Amino acid sequence: MNRRLGVLISGRGSNLQALIDATRDGRLDAAIAVVISNREEAAGLERARAAGIDAVVIGHRDYRSRHDHDRALVRELTARGVGLVCLAGYMRLVGPVLLDAFPDAVLNIHPSLLPAFPGLDAQAQAIAHGVKVSGVTVHLVTHELDGGPIVLQRAVPVLENDTADTLAERILVEEHRVYPEAVRIVLDGGWRIEGRRFRRTGAPGSA
Ligand code: GAR
Repeated sequence: MNRRLGVLISGRGSNLQALIDATRDGRLDAAIAVVISNREEAAGLERARAAGIDAVVIGHRDYRSRHDHDRALVRELTARGVGLVCLAGYMRLVGPVLLDAFPDAVLNIHPSLLPAFPGLDAQAQAIAHGVKVSGVTVHLVTHELDGGPIVLQRAVPVLENDTADTLAERILVEEHRVYPEAVRIVLDGGWRIEGRRFRRTGAPGSA
């Protein structure tokens, strides 16, 4: 798979930073071709620029529909020669225009053990439900919200006195470890999709 990444963000960008760091210190053999935010105030844009990476704002409010916004994203990503799109705190649903342009090549990171607690505020959902273990999931994005094939998961225990914020902080530490690793697995190939399963076949290059 082409090792040029496009990273989509909406905010803080700490997962973006983890990807930047991993490409710089040799853990991840890939280049971030462009960072795109749908919000101009996203702090992650500064992280990208500080690392010398092109950072672009494509505001969803500037387009009439998700369709048109996604088309603008696809134009930017393809113009930059991106092979794999990484959602990193990108708080918008991704529509068919983007998914069809990047089949099995859009990744997302989510702060729970999916299929538990999809959607917004996953850490608060975990606290409210009273689970004893939560965690992080990296999955390929499909038309089903937070429902695509799971590439990697890591468990994080929920402590007795955790709040949504303290749990989120500890999950975030795992997110930063797991996202570069999942991107590496996807780029290295040797996997296939079987139903909803991401299966590693051990034959790199077959993806
Ligand atoms: C992360 O916790 C990420 O898992 C979550 O938003 C945060 C973004 O932080 N994403 C979702 O909830 C997606 N449904 P960051 O901007 O510092 O990477």
